[in-house]
Amino acid sequence: MSAQRESQSRLAAPDINAMKGKTPIVCLTAYTAPMAELLDPVCDILLVGDSVGMVLHGLDNTVGVTLEMMILHGQAVMRGSRRAMVVVDMPFGSYEGDRRTAYANAVRVMKETGAQAIKIESGAAVADTIAFLVERGVPVMGHVGLRPQSVLVDGRFRARGRTNSEHDDVMEEARAAQAAGAFAIVVEGVAETLARNLTSELEVPTIGIGASPACDGQVLVLDDMLGLFDWTPKFVRRYADLRSEIDRAVRAYAADVRDRRFPGEAETYRLAPKRA
Ligand code: KIV
Repeated sequence: MSAQRESQSRLAAPDINAMKGKTPIVCLTAYTAPMAELLDPVCDILLVGDSVGMVLHGLDNTVGVTLEMMILHGQAVMRGSRRAMVVVDMPFGSYEGDRRTAYANAVRVMKETGAQAIKIESGAAVADTIAFLVERGVPVMGHVGLRPQSVLVDGRFRARGRTNSEHDDVMEEARAAQAAGAFAIVVEGVAETLARNLTSELEVPTIGIGASPACDGQVLVLDDMLGLFDWTPKFVRRYADLRSEIDRAVRAYAADVRDRRFPGEAETYRLAPKRA
């Protein structure tokens, strides 16, 4: 009963779907319970992105991210949140082969994390898989434009849709994802004209990252917008400079330890006074 109440208070795929054309959808990535707790009252969607591999695990790209990593971080984000919809990325290699394997892996993610949906990078080749999953009860968020899991084929992370043929390819990928039943589509790294055309043609919400203001919502990688990295792409706005703040704090701590100013009286346990 309490689990049922819990799931009723969370936003789910139909709620996000219904925001199209009304309220801009607010989404950030989250990978840990304490961060999820901070973001939960403010965001509509917490995306457990496979960017976790680069952001927290020091990988060069997302290709090495495993299902186990996504499940572990999905569980943490679910524990830290109560209200926002939690969407977990399916990692490279977990859904592109046969549909039954994709279904088995998606069910593992849903059951072991309790998340409300999964996200799939949606080239034309996986439209059938999206339909297979949605028909069997797995809500799917699509992802078109720059698809980071294809970086080894593309050679680099590169904005898409700047030529007519790329524009048409991405439109086609998004149409296929929508027709297959995706409830929303992440649009990454595309020219504004393409984002505008996608958003006006599609009936499902578009959630942009590096895709101009012409989307139904926006998503950023949390650590980018908090200023935790030296370098961030052009499309990121830094809302904080936590890298400098952490550097300042760690240097102050190290100086206090070396000069024996830490721990001080306030941070030290003493024997309890003897009772008379
Ligand atoms: O993995 C991720 O963080 C993502 C966002 C960039 C949308 O897919």
